[in-house]
Formats: sequence, C-alpha cells, structure tokens
Amino acid sequence: MRVLAANRIFTELAGPETKFGPTSLSNIFTVPALSNGIKHCFDLGYRGGAGFPSYARETNYRQLEDELDSPFQYAFQTKLHCFDWWKEHPREASQFHNVKGRLILQDQPDVIDAIPKDSLHPTIELTKHNFFKPQLIKGAGVYFLKHVLHDWPNPKALIILRNLVAVMKDYSKLIIIENVLPEAGPLPVPTAGLDFILMVGFAAMERTAKQWEALLTEAGLKITGRWVKDDGDGVLEVMLA
Ligand SMILES: C[S@@+](CC[C@H](N)C(=O)[O-])C[C@H]1O[C@@H](n2cnc3c(N)ncnc32)[C@H](O)[C@@H]1O
Repeated sequence: MRVLAANRIFTELAGPETKFGPTSLSNIFTVPALSNGIKHCFDLGYRGGAGFPSYARETNYRQLEDELDSPFQYAFQTKLHCFDWWKEHPREASQFHNVKGRLILQDQPDVIDAIPKDSLHPTIELTKHNFFKPQLIKGAGVYFLKHVLHDWPNPKALIILRNLVAVMKDYSKLIIIENVLPEAGPLPVPTAGLDFILMVGFAAMERTAKQWEALLTEAGLKITGRWVKDDGDGVLEVMLA
C-alpha cells in the first residue's frame, strides 16, 4: 500500500494507525468497464511487454508479421492466437469483453415499442428518448445520427445538435449520415425528389456542404472528417469546436 500511496493511487491518512484512503485514481476501479480495461491492459500489455525485449533479441529484432509467433505467444508460453487463448481462459476473456462499450438505440416511445422482440442483437439497449429534451447519455465515445437532421429545419436541428453538444466531451465524435449536396449542378433525381419531399412535408431539406458547415458551426461543432460520394451520399465526422 505504501508504494501505491507514493504513486498517489491511494492516500495515506493521518492518525496514530497506518490507514489508507481512496483517490480519484483508485476510484477508477469502481467503474467496471474501466477496471476491466486496466486489468486487461495489465495482463496482456504488461506480461506481453515484459517479455518483449528478450523476444526481440532472440528473434534478431525482426519485423513482427506472424500473429502466431509474437511476444504474446512468447510471454504466455502458447502456440495459440490471442483470441483462441482467451477461449481457454474465461477470466481474462471476460475482462476484455467487459471493456467493450454500450450500444444504445434511442427513438420515440411508439417506435421503440414497435420493435419486434428479439429482432435486434440482445446487447443493443433500447431507450425511449425525445431528442428535443436533454440527452442523458453523457460523455459517449460516439454519437450517431442517420437521416435525422434532414427531417428538421435549422432552428429545430440546432436544438437536437446542442443537446448533444451539452454532453459531448473533447474526445466524443458525432457521426452524421446524410446527403452532403454540391453547391451547384444537377442532383440525381432521387436526391432532388427527397429534398422536395422534405421541404413540403417537414419544412426541412437536404443540405449542401456549406449549409452543413454553417449549421454545425452555429451548434458549437466542427467537421473533422467527411466522406461524400458523387451522388451526395455522405458521412460527416464532427467534434466539439
Ligand atoms: C428518417 S427516420 C431515420 C431513422 C434511422 N436513423 C434510419 O436511418 O433508418 C427519423 C427518425 O427520427 C425519429 N424521431 C422523430 N422525432 C423524434 C424525437 N423527438 N425524438 C427522438 N426520435 C425522433 C423518428 O421516429 C425516426 O425513427
């Protein structure tokens, strides 16, 4: 415990007896995904890494290209691939699997209720959520909006985006799948038709690259990646500005 306290992982409490208390670092272990991540990194990275110098020396510092002859097999004394080794070591495997994040699908109550039982993978969490209300999932790695914003005019799209901005962290990414139209030139007929339907049905629109830029900037976001096909079908990667 003294070594841990010296490294600020626990703190030594004042008093006649030797006692230790938690710190913000040791509190990380109370979050299962984080604690499993640390154990996973320790088991695999530390043990595998500790054997790496002698492995590299014995294999003449060659480039690693064989997944069945890597520092992992050397350190763990196995011929198995890492994934196969986990199948025989459920404790270590569960640490790795518990590191994985949650996948949460949000939609309106009637839409969530209409999803047939067992039609989605059981790990997907279904949540009734109104995106005009504050977002409850805070600090997610990825938020995802597919063909959602094109249903709304700018003032409403801004509310949806700002509810995400309020919970995004500097590492969070928002992935937006939408048409990103060219500024000029004839559109493919289906895209132009959809733009028209969105206008008459929802007072909304398919947006051009400049319109996306302006909307996202106004919401406090910046585009950090974009992949757009010739027909406008696009993916925008967005982060806090
Ligand atoms: C065009 S659909 C896109 C659905 C899905 N993302 C896809 O690409 O297939 C728009 C979705 O927004 C949902 N939606 C509309 N208003 C909403 C609200 N206030 N809160 C949450 N979801 C809403 C609709 O129920 C619908 O599922």
